[in-house]
Amino acid sequence: MIGKTGGKAEIFYRGLIMKTDNIKIMFLAFAALTISCLIALSPGTAGGGSVKTYVGSENCQSCHEKEYENFSSNAAKARSFEHVQIMKKGLTESEYLGCLKCHTTAYGEPGGFVSVKATPELKNPGCEVCHGPGSLHIESGDPKDIKQPTMAVCEKCHISERVNSFKFKPMLYGGAH
Ligand code: HEC
Ligand code: HEC
Ligand code: HEC
Ligand code: HEC
Repeated sequence: MIGKTGGKAEIFYRGLIMKTDNIKIMFLAFAALTISCLIALSPGTAGGGSVKTYVGSENCQSCHEKEYENFSSNAAKARSFEHVQIMKKGLTESEYLGCLKCHTTAYGEPGGFVSVKATPELKNPGCEVCHGPGSLHIESGDPKDIKQPTMAVCEKCHISERVNSFKFKPMLYGGAH
């Protein structure tokens, strides 16, 4: 009798355990699937590192000494972050953040300026505001991996309202190196 009920109980419990085990297995399988999907989607592994990001002007110096020297000593861009800090006091936070789009390297873009603490190398508008993100090119040294700018690139920041109100329209070869 005891054996029988014990047997029934055992079957009953086994059934439950089997069920929870199945749920556990299903859960683990689902978790594993989710994790592998997330890994596959993450930008680091997706394109095999082919996504170009911003590296800052100092990373161009070793191979382009002349352009780097000319740009650093002559271009107002190379000191632009300071210029904005001088005016920061009179600005609201959102006005200030609005300045960064033109006065840093690629604020608001993937791989662009975030903050002085996180991305100090991108705080000024550098080589890459005109030439585009340089991560691929600094590794390869291949000219195909970097852009030559056109006037359309300048006009992202030297917008027509500015040009009209400040009576200043740069020429393609101005303010670079
Ligand atoms: C490892 C060396 C190396 C580094 C670092 C490097 N370059 Fe170059 N770059 C080259 C070489 C080599 C060429 C092809 C020969 C030349 O024009 O001097 C080139 C060419 C260029 C060109 C001309 C492209 C064309 O279409 O003719 C630009 C613009 C340029 N580099 C910008 C940059 C910028 C901006 C950086 C920093 C983000 C940088 N380079 C960093 C090696 C480098
Ligand atoms: C990401 C925004 C941005 C882009 C793109 C840009 N500029 Fe500028 N440029 C600025 C800012 C900001 C200043 C002012 C810097 C300062 O005084 O703080 C400036 C200043 C200048 C000046 C005057 C001061 C100087 O350095 O002699 C010239 C000339 C100039 N840019 C030319 C160009 C040209 C040509 C292009 C395109 C090939 C271009 N810029 C692209 C933001 C930009
Ligand atoms: C749409 C792009 C853009 C935005 C946004 C922008 N600037 Fe500029 N700024 C420029 C450009 C381009 C120049 C240089 C040439 C000119 O005057 O057009 C410049 C020049 C300057 C200069 C240098 C003036 C001089 O005499 O050398 C200062 C300072 C400045 N901006 C501060 C600011 C501040 C502060 C903000 C935010 C409230 C701001 N800018 C927002 C593009 C911009
Ligand atoms: C204001 C825009 C601007 C900035 C900032 C800028 N460049 Fe250029 N760069 C140009 C223009 C315009 C050309 C000529 C494009 C053409 O000939 O079609 C050029 C050409 C070049 C070339 C090709 C060789 C040559 O002189 O024609 C190299 C290399 C280069 N730049 C490197 C750099 C480096 C390194 C920096 C930063 C230290 C930098 N550039 C910053 C606008 C810029």
